[in-house]
Amino acid sequence: MALLTLLLSLALSASANEGPAPTPPMGWSSWNSFGCAIDESLIRETADALVASGLAHAGYRYVNIDDCWQAAQRDASGGLQPDPRRFPGGIRALADYVHARGLKLGIYTSVGTRTCEGLPGSRYHEEQDARRFAAWGVDFVKDDFCGGPLWSRYTFWPWWDYRKHYRAMSEALRRTGRPIVFSLCTWGFGRVWEWGPEIAHLWRTYWDIAPRWWWIMRILDQQRGLEKYAGPGRWNDPDMLEVGVAPLSKAESQAHFGLWAVLAAPLIAGNDIRRMEPWVQEVLANPEIIAVDQDPAGIQGRLVSGAGGRLQVWAKPLAGKGRVAALLLNRGSAPERITAAWTDLGLAAGPALVRDLWAHKDLGSHDASFSATVRPHGAVMALITQTGR
Ligand code: GLA
Repeated sequence: MALLTLLLSLALSASANEGPAPTPPMGWSSWNSFGCAIDESLIRETADALVASGLAHAGYRYVNIDDCWQAAQRDASGGLQPDPRRFPGGIRALADYVHARGLKLGIYTSVGTRTCEGLPGSRYHEEQDARRFAAWGVDFVKDDFCGGPLWSRYTFWPWWDYRKHYRAMSEALRRTGRPIVFSLCTWGFGRVWEWGPEIAHLWRTYWDIAPRWWWIMRILDQQRGLEKYAGPGRWNDPDMLEVGVAPLSKAESQAHFGLWAVLAAPLIAGNDIRRMEPWVQEVLANPEIIAVDQDPAGIQGRLVSGAGGRLQVWAKPLAGKGRVAALLLNRGSAPERITAAWTDLGLAAGPALVRDLWAHKDLGSHDASFSATVRPHGAVMALITQTGR
């Protein structure tokens, strides 16, 4: 009987304090399209647009306010407070608004005394800020890398142990008892993938993304070799999405989105959700690509052929035996034929069904490889399922 009561209360406490989902977080962030031009109506309108567009239903749940929500000074008790002009209703009211729509609210701070936009950061205030975030009902905290000592803006001085301060914030958030996703943003400094998994759910692996093909390819190249650090509940973060942000084209946006899914990256949209062209919504909401990203096995995909070249194949093993997502990437400027061989994908020789995840079409059974002509700056993405042998 005592054992039964104990088990019951354990089960109850686990469900009452259910942590963040073990799959990569999905949502939206204000930074890529709005920078500092944010206010509470943008956040409310975006929450509404996520629901109305169906993106919330597709899995985009976090509405993340990035830099510039803070007032220039802390309040009399040393607490962070929102800019009274941009967020007159306060963050608690925004969290309530977002929660009422079945969504979650994210917020931003920095490990140093200043954020990258020169607003108050959390150094020396980790406990107080974490408590306030939790009291406001915040569900996601991004902790940036600006405002360290000895240099007013950036913090990557070797003799400053910023890891200690990230850890302080991580522990302070944990102590609040509220399940909060913790997102580290050291731009890849300090080999963050080695210590990030202990204290955070995701960690940025490189500099800020921009809506440029060549730069997205550069970020992609930096992800090679990091796959072993990711797993359920701990993710390498190649940065927020630029799908639908000009001048990135539709083909480029699709390739970028597919690659992020293969990398099991957080899918945090960076476009203006209130004004999306239909193709942007289609890319972001593609259920078959999202399923690759959110696959329960939580394995980060990797480059399996074409290292250093124009034509590459990236592959992500999925839950279940003999299932792999393959992405055929054409980095060049003319259409090209690309082949994904079963041996490269880690599949045994023999028949496998191929399904095109952009066209939503079955392409029949193939025996040892699959080839497609791929647009320049584009990708074909396929689900390969081995059939019995
Ligand atoms: C840094 C981060 C970005 C963004 C800005 C905000 O550059 O890497 O993602 O948060 O700061 O100032």
